[in-house]
Amino acid sequence: MLLMTPWYRTLLFLMAFCAQGLVSHAQAFEDSMAQRTMACTVCHGAQGRAGPDGYYPRLAGKPAGYLYNQLNNFRVGWRHYPLMQGLIDPLDDRYLREIATHFASLSVPYPPPRPSTASAAELERGRKLVKEGREDAGLPACMQCHGLEMMGVNPSTPGLLGLPADYINAQLGGWQTGQRRTASPDCMAQVARKLSAADISAVSHWLASQPVPPNAHPADKKPDSRSKVELNCASAP
Ligand code: HEC
Ligand code: HEC
Repeated sequence: MLLMTPWYRTLLFLMAFCAQGLVSHAQAFEDSMAQRTMACTVCHGAQGRAGPDGYYPRLAGKPAGYLYNQLNNFRVGWRHYPLMQGLIDPLDDRYLREIATHFASLSVPYPPPRPSTASAAELERGRKLVKEGREDAGLPACMQCHGLEMMGVNPSTPGLLGLPADYINAQLGGWQTGQRRTASPDCMAQVARKLSAADISAVSHWLASQPVPPNAHPADKKPDSRSKVELNCASAP
């Protein structure tokens, strides 16, 4: 992958390293959030709108509690990205919460979805899993937790629209292998382990093919449960 070529990594690291100076010394000359989060936007795009290629996730408009939990997860080693962990390690908890609140408050338009390469049958398989789940296998519908609009639920459940298929695919794979974790009970680890590789590909493609409704934002509460199966999520009780 181009992004992983050694020169690109080195370049990025140098950029992040210089920008880290800006984060820790920001207060010395200007204490604006834009200044403080400059290092973050090197990878996550202006205002946290996401990098150009699906590798660096969007931060803008995601629930604040979710963003904070992730920063903490990188800090405690439940998620891994060493270049970013180096930036976060020196920051205290209050600072991480402020950063999370800042990115959560930004409303940046979403790009239109890219045309899907998946077949109609694969997209239909993805749609059914997201909207209906597979109750006989103990798998609730994704919408049950991620909201009927699939834009997440405040404060700690993220949305599923506006994310590239590769990113969704990689996160679900990470939960299956234990590479990505969160506080236990970790409902997403249970969800991911009930999905086959074909299921993961199908949900990733279907979700990424859906347009984000204008002015979409996380819901204030979970939809009423119509499901026989419930999974507990310590990160979003
Ligand atoms: C060198 C590039 C880089 C820099 C700099 C960087 N990040 Fe990241 N960040 C990433 C990557 C890559 C991921 C996704 C890793 C994965 O796949 O789990 C990520 C993931 C995240 C996530 C989880 C997003 C989600 O939806 O789950 C948050 C929150 C985050 N970064 C915040 C920040 C903040 C705040 C800063 C600045 C202090 C920052 N990042 C700096 C590369 C970077
Ligand atoms: C029982 C509730 C629940 C169900 C069901 C559920 N999720 Fe989640 N999901 C969560 C929570 C809570 C998180 C945040 C986890 C964390 O804090 O790390 C999450 C996170 C995610 C993420 C990470 C998003 C990001 O920006 O990194 C993806 C992708 C995801 N879920 C996909 C799915 C899919 C696909 C399904 C259906 C097959 C599903 N989820 C079903 C609760 C649920």
